[in-house]
Amino acid sequence: MKLWGGRFAAPPAGALDRLGKSIGFDRRLHAEEVRVNRAYAAALAAAGVLTAAERDRMVAGLDRVGEALAADPPPPLDDEDIHTTVERMLADEIGELARKLPTGRSRNDLSQTGFRLYLADALRDVITAVDRLRRALLVRAAEHFETVVPGYTHTQRAQPVVFAQLLLAHFWPLTRDRERLLAARGRAAASPMGAGALAGNPYPVDREALASDLGLPAVLENSVDAVGTRDYALEFLAAGAILGVHLSRLAEDMVLWSTAEFGFIRLDDAWSTGSSLMPQKRNPDGFELIRGKAGRLTGNLVALLTTLKGLASSYQRDLQEDKEPCFDTLDTLLLALPVAEGGVATMQVRPDRMRAALSHDLLATDLAEYLVARGLPFRDAHDVAGQVFAHCEREGVTPPELSLDELRRFSPAFGDDVAEVWDYRASAARRAVVGGTAPDAVRAQIEAAVATLPPDDARE
Ligand code: ARG
Repeated sequence: MKLWGGRFAAPPAGALDRLGKSIGFDRRLHAEEVRVNRAYAAALAAAGVLTAAERDRMVAGLDRVGEALAADPPPPLDDEDIHTTVERMLADEIGELARKLPTGRSRNDLSQTGFRLYLADALRDVITAVDRLRRALLVRAAEHFETVVPGYTHTQRAQPVVFAQLLLAHFWPLTRDRERLLAARGRAAASPMGAGALAGNPYPVDREALASDLGLPAVLENSVDAVGTRDYALEFLAAGAILGVHLSRLAEDMVLWSTAEFGFIRLDDAWSTGSSLMPQKRNPDGFELIRGKAGRLTGNLVALLTTLKGLASSYQRDLQEDKEPCFDTLDTLLLALPVAEGGVATMQVRPDRMRAALSHDLLATDLAEYLVARGLPFRDAHDVAGQVFAHCEREGVTPPELSLDELRRFSPAFGDDVAEVWDYRASAARRAVVGGTAPDAVRAQIEAAVATLPPDDARE
């Protein structure tokens, strides 16, 4: 069955048919398709296009179609798209009356309404999965707000931080990701239904009532825009791509920290994988794959942006390309997030290895700051501390091994109390500003982080 055969003397060529078919992916929208059709039957009755009895038969028929489409295993479908499927199956259920359902509407407004409903709903699952990962990071951070570890910039040893600070550095981006996803969800939740093909519906359907019947809080104000825009999908894909990049950074940290060379963490057996050749291996495949998935998440955004660029307003068939990137981003995120959560929740943290990795170079800044306290301008203090560390490197000694006399050759400002500089904890504790790595500041940060979590079992 075709929804548009009347004007043609011959069916489309097989290759064109195959190119245009979307049932392979839009069958995923079957539940939403039935929901929108039901609501539309009610709107047509309210507008006087259908009688109440016709509406009731139609709705009952649609319910049976909905059940058949939800069956397990799902029925094989070979229609052009899910809209054709539902019309065909409805005709099998209620006969001729099914032919009245499309009155005044188009697949242009219909497909978009179902897709928006689907996205808005699926986004709740993504947000829940993000929250679970955020919670796992927070639990682990709370265990280690005093565990001192080398911090890095340029992947070079930089300054001591507490391990919680490194974990929370992943918590906050994910918190912003959550806000972006929530905003994308709000944007999706608007109804194009009633826009028709592009010009609007010629029957007095109440678009507001139709939208609220579907649980959508808004109607799109312009019919041409309503069938043509995909900005809500872009916002979702952008939020997904940014989230993917954030997950890849977490993953990279986890991969690095779990190497023998770092050894800051050990991944749990259940979240590690082996090698088919090398019996000793415990590989962080989960985090490597999460890191890798950032590529397709970014690609999905770029794919739809590229499709949309330069399109004339209203509906063009190109717009059918909106669904697969979104489905792929959804699936990818729902695969990756639980693995990130599981890996973080179960990793064994190794404070002994963190302690062993601390070295005096991490305190070079503290040495400069010591001199600042003794009156040197920071730039001078920086020079002196740099000279001290260069000297130690040349001589193969550590700075605490230098005598006061030796130190005074670099600056007369050095005093006996310089020995106090060589304390990693004290270094961290001095960074006590809001957001700093001082244990007290980190404790406050954890409290602020907890306040952003939704109640335990809430869904957005
Ligand atoms: N499968 C189509 C899509 O997702 C439905 C709309 C078809 N509209 C049309 N005018 N051919 O865009």
